Amino acid sequence: MCGIIGVLGNHEAAPLLVEGLKRLEYRGYDSAGIATVNAGRLDRRRAVGKLVNLSDLLVHEPLAGKSGIGHTRWATHGAATVTNAHPHRAGGVAVVHNGIIENFRALREDLAGDGYIQESQTDTETVALLVQRGLDRGLAPVESAREALSRLEGAFALCLLFEGEDDLMICARKGSPLAIGRGEGEMFVGSDAIALAPMTDRITYLEEGDWAILTRKGAEIYDAANRRANRIETRIQLDSARVEKAGYKHFMAKEIAEQPVVMADALRHYTGGSAAPSLNLPGGLDFTGIDRVVMVACGTASYATHVAKYWFERLAGLPAEIDVASEFRYREPVLSGRSMAIFVSQSGETADTLAALRYVKDKVAQVVAVVNVPTSSIARESDLALPILAGAEIGVASTKAFTCQLTVLALMALKAAADRGRIGAEEMAQRLESLRALPGLLNVALSLSETIAAVSNELAEASDILFLGRGAMYPLALEGALKLKEISYIHAEGYASGELKHGPIALIDANVPVIVMAPADPLFDKTVSNMQEVMARNGKVLLLSDATGVAEAGQGTWRSLILPAVDPAWAPILYAVPAQLLAYHTAIAKGTDVDQPRNLAKSVTVE
Ligand code: F6R
Repeated sequence: MCGIIGVLGNHEAAPLLVEGLKRLEYRGYDSAGIATVNAGRLDRRRAVGKLVNLSDLLVHEPLAGKSGIGHTRWATHGAATVTNAHPHRAGGVAVVHNGIIENFRALREDLAGDGYIQESQTDTETVALLVQRGLDRGLAPVESAREALSRLEGAFALCLLFEGEDDLMICARKGSPLAIGRGEGEMFVGSDAIALAPMTDRITYLEEGDWAILTRKGAEIYDAANRRANRIETRIQLDSARVEKAGYKHFMAKEIAEQPVVMADALRHYTGGSAAPSLNLPGGLDFTGIDRVVMVACGTASYATHVAKYWFERLAGLPAEIDVASEFRYREPVLSGRSMAIFVSQSGETADTLAALRYVKDKVAQVVAVVNVPTSSIARESDLALPILAGAEIGVASTKAFTCQLTVLALMALKAAADRGRIGAEEMAQRLESLRALPGLLNVALSLSETIAAVSNELAEASDILFLGRGAMYPLALEGALKLKEISYIHAEGYASGELKHGPIALIDANVPVIVMAPADPLFDKTVSNMQEVMARNGKVLLLSDATGVAEAGQGTWRSLILPAVDPAWAPILYAVPAQLLAYHTAIAKGTDVDQPRNLAKSVTVE
């Protein structure tokens, strides 16, 4: 969380910094700020709230200079105030930072003992003071920065700028990603390559523990042991860096609508383009000899693993364990050397998921990443990475990444079934066919948008909403509730429908809408019984099913929505779309900020 950007350019830095921050705003939007050096003079501007407030400030109080750093903040230490906004400054040093300096209290006390007193409540200002103390003790900027960096504990990416130095920037990466961009006689730094896309496509990713000295001539990179390091420069696809709304009102709306196309791309990639699909997963993915899969992720990605658990167990007969990364990494899980560990992450940078990956590294047979960003830390630190090919996802609420994660996990489960001799050629062909039919079915689901908007206008009046599902639809109920609460701020919970009577049924009355996700599959009758229990208590049921299901059980419900019939195995992928649309339209009805909901950030790079 938090986005950082740096420019040593040949043009005015402020507009470039603001443009870069615009592309990083998905990482946090509690406050924003920039600092520049102009003919040796270091100056800064900071504003609380979204980037637009900083842009407005810069109109009245412009900042000149061709060297600069910028920051968009997701508050960790200290409230969202101007004083706590980055860049932080101490004397002639300015710093922007993403992550957490874990030992900042001890450092702050040490600095205070020498008369270096912080004005903010942040862990970041401590870094600026530490570097400034080094300068005051006679160290040159590079030496002072190096010494300060060696004292920092935690996970961070940071960038330093110095008064009197128009051609110097120092940046470092430990735990949080940082990309260096090279232009013609210009150098750039950003939390990700997307931020740098308008300036350059030549990107070098710093590795864990690296730090770099940047001048307009280039970057000198050093590893954690201060040895000169060579890091490969790659050209990024500008396509993946495109972040336009393309006529949609919100990124989330665009990303929901894109799902049929990106899913079809992923399916083509992994099943070939011919009429008869065949599994075409990387050769290194082999389930022979694997005795269980352990899947770890956070948030929406964890619900994708939860759905996949049903697939691995049912289709492949392979034991599957799931956990959220923040629990997994500390619960001392028992792992066998024959386990395959699968880490699912859109960003590939989620701190807890990355830490969980590092925890299992030498304890399992293989570490596999399912990621959207192929250059991410999680992808790079895995034995094998499967990209989900969803394209850049900007809306904070994950949508197309979820359905593409499910698509790749479904293919992996089929591969496991084949490797373990649990599926014959005929069933495989039929399963792949029905997967390939999904993009078309998703289009049908998308065409329900207007109907869903009408239902959502009424849902927006509720203060609590329950989602119910059974089998692989249970995690979908969890995902539907998460999506709704994160963008509409309505309290929502997902339950396994059979679990309702063990407690949550006490919540049911005429004011609590209950959304039942129930395709007409072998478990349908059971779910309908639970739905009847809700209706018997005046519950207001919205049934999501297919034509058969609605004909059988739609009577007496508050509303029902008819989705296309689908291979029951893949129903969770299809039903994700109405769940997303319900959340989206409810948020619109409530007038919330759909793409940047309060308190959230897209890439959670702190623990
Ligand atoms: C919810 C959402 C989050 C993320 C979670 C993991 O809509 O987007 O719950 O799914 O923070 O992020 P990644 O997938 O980047 O690891």
